[in-house]
Amino acid sequence: MKKTEKIWLDGEMVRWEDAKVHVLSHGLNYGTSVFEGIRVYQTDKGPAVFRLRDHMTRLLEGCRVMAIPLKFGGKEYGLEELIEAVKQVVRENKDVDYLKPFVFLRGEDVGLNPVNVPASMSITGINMGMYLGKDAEKGAKIITSSWHRPDNLCTPAGAKIGGTYVTSCLAKREAVEQGANEAVMLNSNGYVAECTGENIFIYKRGKIYTPKPSNSILEGITRNSVIQVAKDLGYEVIETDISRIEMLTADEVWMTGTAAEVVIVTTIDNRSVGNGKPGKVATELQKKFADVVRGKDKKYASWIDQVN
Ligand SMILES: Cc1ncc(COP(=O)(O)O)c(C=O)c1O
Repeated sequence: MKKTEKIWLDGEMVRWEDAKVHVLSHGLNYGTSVFEGIRVYQTDKGPAVFRLRDHMTRLLEGCRVMAIPLKFGGKEYGLEELIEAVKQVVRENKDVDYLKPFVFLRGEDVGLNPVNVPASMSITGINMGMYLGKDAEKGAKIITSSWHRPDNLCTPAGAKIGGTYVTSCLAKREAVEQGANEAVMLNSNGYVAECTGENIFIYKRGKIYTPKPSNSILEGITRNSVIQVAKDLGYEVIETDISRIEMLTADEVWMTGTAAEVVIVTTIDNRSVGNGKPGKVATELQKKFADVVRGKDKKYASWIDQVN
């Protein structure tokens, strides 16, 4: 990750070094935060944010679930104000390809009660490059984690809540320590849920399958984009329960996420997926997605938000 110069903090642009919180901030201690991850791409008309409105809508929904009011520096923030703030971060920094809007309980407190603890919001732009690294480009290696995806009954799994990500961090550690690029988590019913920061798709006997939202997944915006693009290309896409066996015996497997984009999986639990090489369907979707996010397909123009 390459850092940038300025971070949006509670309505002001501050120097990277000055965006600080106290060690006792509630969000830092208990994970009481909501965040987003958003990609910025270079298009013919300059930098553009991919599905900005959808990302900020998901952030607002997460804040509603956590009952965090979006009032910073005396000003209330709704969707339009947040969209403008994100664009400002891209404009005022160089080479931003990834943005992290972050709402957190800033107040210094010991104790779990989040009621009336003051909140803050930051929007940071960075240069991330490839999230899963160059190595995963030829085909990613993943493992099934021993950690389960937190259940919808334990946490708002469909929102990006900071505390929920402890499980993702544990699963990711497991993957990295076993020499894999990523980990896939099963849910408490034993069905495939998702990876630590990506949704998962399989292709088997001519159809595309992906876990349905009630399987405790985050409804990824990339997932939604890839489903739409796949349907437009004529594929049948089914949102359903997927067992581990179905995943291990799929012809093709790929992951989708804002940071990772579309990454093809060629090894799961030391077994080759299909013939062990990137498959035709995943490759087609990966290429199409790369064009769509850069505004090269006018059919998806409404997903592209130009910064200038
Ligand atoms: C747990 C989890 N699943 C899936 C995704 C993919 O979601 P999106 O495509 O909206 O980035 C993410 C990333 O945000 C994630 O953190």
